Amino acid sequence: MIVFLIGFMGSGKSFYAKGLSEFLHVPLVDLDQFIEEEQAMSITEIFEKMGEPSFRALESVAIKQVYADLLTRTTETTHINDILGIISCGGGTPCFNDNMEWMNKHGLTIWINAPEEIILERLMKEKETRPLVASLTEEELRGFIHQKLLERKPYYEKAQSVIANHQITIHEFINTIQHAKNFF
Ligand code: S3P
Repeated sequence: MIVFLIGFMGSGKSFYAKGLSEFLHVPLVDLDQFIEEEQAMSITEIFEKMGEPSFRALESVAIKQVYADLLTRTTETTHINDILGIISCGGGTPCFNDNMEWMNKHGLTIWINAPEEIILERLMKEKETRPLVASLTEEELRGFIHQKLLERKPYYEKAQSVIANHQITIHEFINTIQHAKNFF
């Protein structure tokens, strides 16, 4: 089974993806990083040069490529947990095309539902690499997060499991996954 971590920018997807991958000894792919390597451009450059619709198209293709790739890489790492790999998605991945339905069909989707204040605090520190928010002031960013979360929640809410505690430990996270796996 492949685990897809979803959630808003700054919700902690990369942090937990790394922790889960290390703890479970399974490969991790960060979707943005995969796209950057494939295109030999940063996400910011892709947005600037190709525009967001092209990025969204690349993202939908990438999720399927990464999934297929992880399945072929798992022979010697197959673990008792039968979690074969972790994919850390971009914040918008579930909200475009059929991505959310596709991920729900092919793996276990987990939404990290971090509070808006925490997202704001984290994004203020690292917004340069995120083209959607790079130029916003703190107040604009606060409004952006609130509005986008409203728009995106219907997609995020389709996740098969939700992490509501943004400070959950890796052990607790794994317990949540084990529990969720029994249902899907
Ligand atoms: C985006 C989130 C980013 C990246 C791109 C667009 C979004 O990923 O895919 O900048 O639409 O929320 P992270 O959530 O990993 O920052």
